Amino acid sequence: MTSPATHFNHAISRRPAASVTGGLRAEDRGAPDLARMQAAHDAYIATLRATGAKVVVLEALEDYPDALFVEDTALCLPEGAIMMRPGADSRMGEVAQMRPTLAGLFDDLRDISGPGHIEGGDILFTGREVLVGRSARTDAEGVAELRIILEEWGHSLRELQTPEGVLHFKTDCSLLDPETVLSTKLLDNGYCFDGYRVLHLPEGEEAAANAIRFNDVVLLPDGFPKTADMLTREGYDIRPIDNTDCALLDGGMSCLSLRFNV
Ligand code: GLY
Repeated sequence: MTSPATHFNHAISRRPAASVTGGLRAEDRGAPDLARMQAAHDAYIATLRATGAKVVVLEALEDYPDALFVEDTALCLPEGAIMMRPGADSRMGEVAQMRPTLAGLFDDLRDISGPGHIEGGDILFTGREVLVGRSARTDAEGVAELRIILEEWGHSLRELQTPEGVLHFKTDCSLLDPETVLSTKLLDNGYCFDGYRVLHLPEGEEAAANAIRFNDVVLLPDGFPKTADMLTREGYDIRPIDNTDCALLDGGMSCLSLRFNV
């Protein structure tokens, strides 16, 4: 069954810049290797394209080290797109860099104008509702402003809490199909995913939680064999992607694209 939460005819990504080595990170575990990151990014885009989707690849932005994590700049839904307002000062300017591309694709383009903040990584659209985790980057005011737009478009928003120390809500969960969520046990604390089937990350493989269902495949960070086996047994067609370097900046599969239908 296709759903606008899992099936897409378009995506937008942005090439990593050389400045990505200075990208934000919660813990310094070394700088990413640019060449290896670019190769992984190429594989990611090729995997999206192989499903038949059109993928727009934007130029690298040296002034914005984290700009390859395009997901944080906007929320794309069937009714239109909403430009976000990042909670990290160094990422605020990325939104204006993305806006013209989305303005060319969406008739209805809205803006979170503030004073609150909200980043796309904290938002999971499941098809039946929009889950938003408050975090160090997404605050109550940002969520409230998003809620007003979503109500106009007929979507219900459920406000949740991203666990302390976790960058984004989707750092710890992914939608595998409209009924099924992949989640860490830490995030799935008994109420987040009420009404969904939840598959828990195997112990020690929590870093594989940020995957994406994109058309008929699931892009999953490579190197998590128990998770890969679990998803394969559950009938998902997985595509492992090297996430070594994005992981050093707390990034994953969802962060690298905006996915939508136009
Ligand atoms: N490095 C991704 C972020 O902190 O937003």
